[in-house]
Amino acid sequence: MERIVLAYSGGLDTSVAIPWLAERFGAEVITATLDLGQGKELDEIRERALRAGARRAHVLDVREEFGRDYILPALQAGAVYEGRYPLATALGRPLIAKKLVEIAEIEDATAIAHGCTGKGNDQVRIDVSSRALNPKIKVIAPARLWGMTRPDEIEYAKARSIRVPVTAQNPYSTDSNLWGRSIECGVLEDPWTEPPEDVFTLTKSPKTCPDTPAYVEVEFERGVPLKVNGVALSFVELVDSLSTIAGSHGVGRIDMVENRLVGIKSREIYEAPAAVVLHAAHKELETFVIPKDLERVKRELSLKYADLVYNGLWFTPLREALDAFVAKTQDRVTGVVRLKLFKGSCTVVGRRSPFALYEHALATYDTGDLFDHTAAEGFIKIWGLPVETAARKRVTPLGQSREKTGV
Ligand code: ARG
Repeated sequence: MERIVLAYSGGLDTSVAIPWLAERFGAEVITATLDLGQGKELDEIRERALRAGARRAHVLDVREEFGRDYILPALQAGAVYEGRYPLATALGRPLIAKKLVEIAEIEDATAIAHGCTGKGNDQVRIDVSSRALNPKIKVIAPARLWGMTRPDEIEYAKARSIRVPVTAQNPYSTDSNLWGRSIECGVLEDPWTEPPEDVFTLTKSPKTCPDTPAYVEVEFERGVPLKVNGVALSFVELVDSLSTIAGSHGVGRIDMVENRLVGIKSREIYEAPAAVVLHAAHKELETFVIPKDLERVKRELSLKYADLVYNGLWFTPLREALDAFVAKTQDRVTGVVRLKLFKGSCTVVGRRSPFALYEHALATYDTGDLFDHTAAEGFIKIWGLPVETAARKRVTPLGQSREKTGV
């Protein structure tokens, strides 16, 4: 008998998918549920899968692997899609695909299945990733094939006496993991409508946040965050604890219209308190310790990296090559960044590093200035302009006289 390994969340869609796959393909269904830090109790999920007809139900805690092999490289690469989305959902998909393929290989299954719809990015990410890992394994997406509406699904489940999960119908489509939470659909589809408070679960409304700011000091060693406020933590603990503190100060809410890889624009809400803090801190430290030309190139590659993660191209030679480049840039990224969290904002207020390229004696305008002021004449020569021409080309800032600005 054919075997199919289904990514099982415990929700209505994937619960219905168990008997549907068994009936449609005459197959044995084995479920896999992964703990990526979504904060849900997974104990009861195994029972639920078996009750719905799964032959076996695997539940795996993959938080550490997710942190170490997916989130951390993306953090070091500065991967933030279209300048705002830290890619929580997108980073989780290749790992889900990897685990499904591994379990399929162990179970001698010929196919894997997932609950993604035909309209989003997630289906592409899982399909492409699993194809890259094992092209022999087929990928089935029941929700792309069955054409059932939600009431149809409930009917289908009842007819097979499968207990429908009793959660009140959530008007939003959400996805959570250690790195953040994605929320879409419902009223959010109107790009003019402000997200109602009830979409947020990880972040407090700035209105109800404490009136005094919190300060966090994040300590990095070679690009890896190791301590928060002097306390050494595992990466998973560190992300968790930053998420709690930043979320309680309203940090990490993102409201954007993004370009999906399937060719449409969509309005998305994200909550990513830890990701916002860590990206801000990491970027700041990098700027402090790496040379300007390297920083420029790295910034360009960050865009590439983010697109690649978003587009499901994790298991590619390009990602591996970019990782090697990024790893080299992290040699000097050691030091501490101090951030202030206050009513929704996250601001860097201090940085220090044994590898700082910042030199007070060169930067200061006070006594002790060691910068050679005549060097500027050299710059003008490098640009190929005689000094007088350069002076004539100086522009007066709008609304200000030359005398006032001293230009
Ligand atoms: N638009 C985001 C992305 O493509 C979030 C997807 C959310 N997924 C979900 N099943 N609700 O990464």
